[in-house]
Amino acid sequence: MTRSFEKVGVVGLGTMGAGIAEVFARAGLTVVGVEADHEALGRGRSNLESSTGRALAKGRLSEAEQAEILGRVTLTTSLEDLADADLVVEAIPEIMDFKRTLFTELDRICKSSAVLATNTSSLSVTEIAATTGRPGRVVGMHFFNPAPVMKLVEVVHTVVTEDGLAEEVAALARRLGKTPVSVGDRAGFVVNRLLLTYLNHAAVMLENGLATREGIDTAMKLGVGVPMGPFALLDLIGLDTSYEVMCVLFQETRDRRHAPAPILRELVTAGLLGRKSGAGFYNGEAPPTPPAAGKPTVTSVAVLGEGAEEFAARLGDAGFKATTPQAATRADAGATEDATEDADVVVALSHTPVIELAARLPHPRRLVGLHLVGDKLAEVASTVLTSPEATCAVEGLVKIVGRVPVHCKDRAEFVVDALLYPYLNDAVRMYDSGYAGMDDIDAAMKLGCGYPAGPFETIDTLGLETVRDGLRALYAEYRDPAFAPAPLLDQLVTAGVRSIRGLS
Ligand code: 3HC
Repeated sequence: MTRSFEKVGVVGLGTMGAGIAEVFARAGLTVVGVEADHEALGRGRSNLESSTGRALAKGRLSEAEQAEILGRVTLTTSLEDLADADLVVEAIPEIMDFKRTLFTELDRICKSSAVLATNTSSLSVTEIAATTGRPGRVVGMHFFNPAPVMKLVEVVHTVVTEDGLAEEVAALARRLGKTPVSVGDRAGFVVNRLLLTYLNHAAVMLENGLATREGIDTAMKLGVGVPMGPFALLDLIGLDTSYEVMCVLFQETRDRRHAPAPILRELVTAGLLGRKSGAGFYNGEAPPTPPAAGKPTVTSVAVLGEGAEEFAARLGDAGFKATTPQAATRADAGATEDATEDADVVVALSHTPVIELAARLPHPRRLVGLHLVGDKLAEVASTVLTSPEATCAVEGLVKIVGRVPVHCKDRAEFVVDALLYPYLNDAVRMYDSGYAGMDDIDAAMKLGCGYPAGPFETIDTLGLETVRDGLRALYAEYRDPAFAPAPLLDQLVTAGVRSIRGLS
């Protein structure tokens, strides 16, 4: 007989818990929200009021509707009020000891048919289930921030979950207007495993001084089309939560890339947790704006590399003397010297580092690498020899051709591809491990994070060989085994397969 979920409990009314309570109440369920004490309960109430208040202010909810939604939620500090709930969703901090204690209590209090769910971001659902006398009725129900907006719910089953229960919980998620993706119990599930690894990589990149926080955020938004850059998103998720997820991932994988970036620990220790504490990577200031670039004071520009003619033509239209000395692309030092001798700056359009070329030029200080990404962004790479004036001039030129410049160091794959390709590689490894199908992984990243495309769709758009070669370049630069192309990707390229999704 199909279980009916009419009365649900939500324990912990922080950002996620309050959002989850709202989602249930909006779908017409009766909700009991539980917090540890009256102060926390007050914060939970205001979380609920401000979230529905947003919709009210935007005219998407009437006052009567808001009152009806809030009227379905009872707030309490007593877990005993959950005795007759059909389902309880836990959304307390990511600390296993707290969860174990809570589930032991819930198991004692709740009726024996009740399903107990955890919204954990990465902790073992199996371990939580094992603290109860009903491990078969304990599942993961993982929502995404902001819970009322993001459409995904990861439904996590364990090896002991009762037959059919994951499907019943998935049906409930659909009733809430969400799209469920059912997965087994592995650290980080689908989304956090891929997302947090990428966010942590961005933090490491920041620490290495490859680009600024604003630059990396701008590059990912404009270059990939993600709704938020990695640092704005880390602030939204919470740096404490992000740090905890990384610790759990590292504990399971021992992969160096899962070791939390030291800057996360430092910010968390300083109490800078992101939006919830008012400051994190950003201090509550306006969202990142494109970096300022000086007005180019140069008059003559030599443009090299693929697409040089088109770029030079745009500069020519804007009144610059732009040449495209082809000789400079050959390993002919004399010709290169002649061809670029008179230019104020030399722009090398390239998706690979340009230092080798710089070392061959008569004025290496004038050489700047430029990587055009999509139709909005240009990564401006300065080498150890490039002068600040040349960098500044090229940033100005980039603006003139209608792109946003993001300055970075001259490293393999610069910013966007250096962050994107390992994430795509991780998705291929995840699929190849049999943990989740391509359609589920694509759906999870789109519905859980608002990505414009899933990783497998992105691989097909970019081309399998491009991604494989980019990973090889990253591996050659950083020697990190995780950057080596996934064997499946390598084999597909070798076999001449053009669509990875054709496999699914
Ligand atoms: N609560 C309720 N509604 C909210 C909200 C919130 N906190 N934030 C935004 N919204 C609503 C707005 O009211 C608006 O609704 P409307 O379109 O019907 O008017 C809609 O969302 C879009 O909001 P805005 O126009 O204000 O802002 P944006 O267009 O910039 O969208 C965003 C904001 C939805 C947060 C978008 O930037 C986004 O999708 N970001 C990615 C978020 C993400 O990746 N989340 C997953 C994080 S990982 C996670 O949570 C797992 C955990 O375990 C770590």
